[in-house]
Amino acid sequence: MGQAPKITIVGSINMDLVTITDQLPKMGETILGQQFQMNPGGKGANQAVASARLGATVQMIGCVGEDMFGKEMLQHLKSEGVDVSHVEQVADQTGTASIIVSNKDNNIIVVPGANNYVTASFVEAKRDAIATSDILIVQLEIPLEGVQKAVEIAKENGVTVILNPAPICDLPADLLMNVDYITPNEHEFTHVTFEGIRAELMEKVILTKGSEGVSYFQDGKELNIPAYTVDVVDTTGAGDSFNAGFAVALGKGLPLEAACQFGNAVAALSTTKLGAQTGMPTDAEVQAFINN
Ligand code: RIB
Repeated sequence: MGQAPKITIVGSINMDLVTITDQLPKMGETILGQQFQMNPGGKGANQAVASARLGATVQMIGCVGEDMFGKEMLQHLKSEGVDVSHVEQVADQTGTASIIVSNKDNNIIVVPGANNYVTASFVEAKRDAIATSDILIVQLEIPLEGVQKAVEIAKENGVTVILNPAPICDLPADLLMNVDYITPNEHEFTHVTFEGIRAELMEKVILTKGSEGVSYFQDGKELNIPAYTVDVVDTTGAGDSFNAGFAVALGKGLPLEAACQFGNAVAALSTTKLGAQTGMPTDAEVQAFINN
């Protein structure tokens, strides 16, 4: 494979507050859970950490609060080798994600807090950092105007753009037209409006389907890359791991099919441990897993 790509992530940084329970409470009910953990998370930060572990040169653009979580997240990202010189501390709370893990699945409520400060003007001030990247990855846990600005700057400068449309919201057609790849899961896919741009857009779609693998579309045909089978502990961050693996592989010059396969392997390994980032593998771990 080619050289380590320079990947910029414009996105969210959260502290994940994770409760593990074998049953879910009904509204108004109190139950006892099994375990509680606080883990670094946020779709942006997860993708940054996963990309760095895979050997990319990674810079993160985002915001944390002037609070304990903010300090911890900055320190953590630095310790993972992510350049945080474009992460600012703002007078708000760091984003949080309340995550319930039950029977190997999860549900999540994100309170964006400081992530809401990643506006168009904030991103514009980071223009040079985006313009000099090989790949930009964006998600939707920051204001849409921030995402749009980042994509616009990338497009103007020939930077490859991956849009991970999570959590899904209404997306303007010009944003969709400006990205190179859009990586929805099946739920998000049903919400993307294809009106008038279906043919052009479908060629950009990389559809992630969990245990069914990943599909891409060529000449109107769906091509599937099956998932790897592993013992799943927690799927939180699997999508982020796929996006990072896909980005790093593309950045190293792999063709689309191989990039999807590599992303699948990274995602599979990430699900074998509890927590979004805990199971995210290094490049050597992915190579060993694929060879086996
Ligand atoms: O994709 C997983 C992430 O979604 C979690 O880490 C949580 O922070 C939410 O943003």
